[in-house]
Amino acid sequence: MPGELAYWGFSDDSGDEGEEALPHELEAFRSRFLSWSRRHAWQTLSPVRRIYAISDLHLEHKANKAWLERLPAHETDALILAGDVGVGLPLLREAFGTLRRKFRHVFYVPGNHELWCAAGERDCLQKFFGVLEAANECGVHAAPCLLGDGGPAFVPLHAWWHTGFVGGPPPAHVKQQLEAMDAFCCWPSWVKPADPPASPLHPSHLFASLNEEAMAGATQSGRPIVTCSHFVPHPSLHRDDEHPLVPHVEGSLHLGRQVAELQPAVHVFGHTHHAVDQRIGATRYMQRPLGNPHERAGQMDEVRLALVWEEEEVTPPPARRVLRSAKSRKALVAARRLDGADPRQGECRD
Ligand SMILES: [Fe+2]
Ligand SMILES: [Fe+2]
Repeated sequence: MPGELAYWGFSDDSGDEGEEALPHELEAFRSRFLSWSRRHAWQTLSPVRRIYAISDLHLEHKANKAWLERLPAHETDALILAGDVGVGLPLLREAFGTLRRKFRHVFYVPGNHELWCAAGERDCLQKFFGVLEAANECGVHAAPCLLGDGGPAFVPLHAWWHTGFVGGPPPAHVKQQLEAMDAFCCWPSWVKPADPPASPLHPSHLFASLNEEAMAGATQSGRPIVTCSHFVPHPSLHRDDEHPLVPHVEGSLHLGRQVAELQPAVHVFGHTHHAVDQRIGATRYMQRPLGNPHERAGQMDEVRLALVWEEEEVTPPPARRVLRSAKSRKALVAARRLDGADPRQGECRD
């Protein structure tokens, strides 16, 4: 959908590397990520009955932590966690541990809050790897994987927001608010968040460039695809017309282009704290945030996980369900005994 994604400062070939030589740190960052991803990607996991989703747990809030503790166990199901679990790594590990005890599998993509730097954390990109490693150590899947024999391929899509996602360049009066957004992010000096988003050094381009190998793997798998990002992938998923800042900090058209290319059955996202369930083309886009307690007006108990995938029940063909008479069943069992076979083998249990 090139025409749909063309916008201010954004050419259709936004992979343009520009005329200046790119810093070696960019390639080192990508290589480090690919090396991490190749070590962990494409495990085939045991099948699940359902896949649920939630985003924006923001576990610094006591009410949110209590919500998580009360969440019932789903031993036969998986959960997609679409970022903004919390800022600190200890909090993140605690959440991963809790969710691993409640779900058979947990899939995860980091949000902007996880990349905020606390004391002693060098920069956002180091923190990014720390977060991925924490997930891996806790048994949470932050790399692409396959579910069961023929189940969906899960693909986390990394992204970052850029201005002009909806409605063109940001107006001058939001400049101060823009500077305050993600002010706890400490980017290394070679990353250029003030560049146009088409620049390979802008965080939105930088993170999107990590997704290419996973996208190719998902396509090659031939399975239905479920993708997940923290940020909004399509301008028509924009919900908030009250705050002039929001259209400039909520999404990424790089990400949008990638989702449009992959055409997943479902794309789960987060970040804007608005519940969304909308079909665009072949893809169902879903957001189910826990969000901040004030946004729920004390109604945290009413937030439920979103059901994004359900394995179809396999109904045995009618012929197998025909009850045999007691006499013929006995005859069958006896015949098997004479053969020396286990009499229960192949028996239809109604
Ligand atoms: Fe959030
Ligand atoms: Fe966020």
